[in-house]
Amino acid sequence: MKISGAVLEEIGRERPYAESRPLSISELELDPPGPGEVLVRIERAGLCHSDLSVIDGNRPRPVPMLLGHEASGIIEQIGDSGDAGDVGFALGDRVVMTFLPRCGNCDGCRSDGVLPCGPGSAANNAGTLLSGGRRLTRDGSAVQHHLGVSGFATHAVVDARSIVRVDADIPADVAALLGCAVLTGGGAVINLAKPQPGDTLIVVGLGGVGMAALLTALAVGATVIGVDANPDKLGQALELGASAAYSPADAAELGVKSATVIEAAGNVRAFETAVALTAPGGTTITVGLPSPTARAEVSPLGLVAEARTIVGSYLGSAVPARDIPIFADLWRAGRLPVEKLVSAEIRLDEVNAAMDALADGHALRQIIVF
Ligand SMILES: NC(=O)c1ccc[n+]([C@@H]2O[C@H](COP(=O)([O-])OP(=O)(O)OC[C@H]3O[C@@H](n4cnc5c(N)ncnc54)[C@H](O)[C@@H]3O)[C@@H](O)[C@H]2O)c1
Ligand SMILES: [Zn+2]
Ligand SMILES: [Zn+2]
Repeated sequence: MKISGAVLEEIGRERPYAESRPLSISELELDPPGPGEVLVRIERAGLCHSDLSVIDGNRPRPVPMLLGHEASGIIEQIGDSGDAGDVGFALGDRVVMTFLPRCGNCDGCRSDGVLPCGPGSAANNAGTLLSGGRRLTRDGSAVQHHLGVSGFATHAVVDARSIVRVDADIPADVAALLGCAVLTGGGAVINLAKPQPGDTLIVVGLGGVGMAALLTALAVGATVIGVDANPDKLGQALELGASAAYSPADAAELGVKSATVIEAAGNVRAFETAVALTAPGGTTITVGLPSPTARAEVSPLGLVAEARTIVGSYLGSAVPARDIPIFADLWRAGRLPVEKLVSAEIRLDEVNAAMDALADGHALRQIIVF
């Protein structure tokens, strides 16, 4: 079938993206779902820094690639079962896309969310679906899938192991955000930080992922201090319920510290800030994805003498099929106002300008409405 989607043509185009247009809104051919795959009509797709990192070259991936990995939609077709058997979904189901499929059968998948799925990571790096196949072409040439999702499009074919069903009462924009911002930031809270009511967490980096960590920590009864280099984000964090919010310099000068600090910015300075704000005996949870060549300065002696832990978390250390329903229940109970993370609703053809806003640190989640 013919679809319309935002294809990254080339990595590293100059800003402003509104002018250089690294993403072109293209007509593509989408093949029908294969065994174990489904066709999803996309309802909403969020812009995450991990999309921007492909555009600016911080996370190089094969191009041309149809970007987008945080999305929700409705199942419109289910591939022939073949060897894959029942995919466990029905036509009309609302589903959340997750950005790392789980084969269910590797050491990573057996690690309860601690390690990424091996075959899923390999497929993501190759720009394919979990099967190793591609379903996207443009003018007869292959187009790469982004993280098994390619959600910046009217429709997507995805592996059934890339999606999680949610009940129809979960609005489409909330559902989209459950797949990346909430699973990542919220997962770092419930799977790693595990705060007790009354504990105080610091979150460094208050974009969509960091603010989702903040909201989740509040939902489970913790207190949150926000830290961001962009002054606008400090006011927004206070509005969302942070007890205090500081620039990195002010936090350091005031001696603000916590036993648990979550870094959700994705650069070396923020990582170093997060380690410095971690109290002796405490844990720094790092979620941001700097360039693969980035290196930070950390004092090994400080780690030893002050008994510190630094732990990385991909995909919120989550098992999506287990954890997305937890976040959906928290939303339904009125404890996790995910919709407050939506800072703008945009059209697909506004995606380049929206990437400028994200790069400037202005956005929480900008959502493409289809
Ligand atoms: N681990 C995962 O599975 C996973 C999943 C999704 C996103 N990510 C990564 O998480 C990071 C955050 O994603 P996002 O979409 O929320 O990004 P974002 O761009 O919306 O937010 C980043 C925030 O960090 C702030 N910041 C930048 N430098 C800072 C510094 N030195 N000190 C303090 N704050 C600083 C920015 O002002 C901005 O508010 C990115 O690196 C993204 O690639 C990781
Ligand atoms: Zn993301
Ligand atoms: Zn696996």
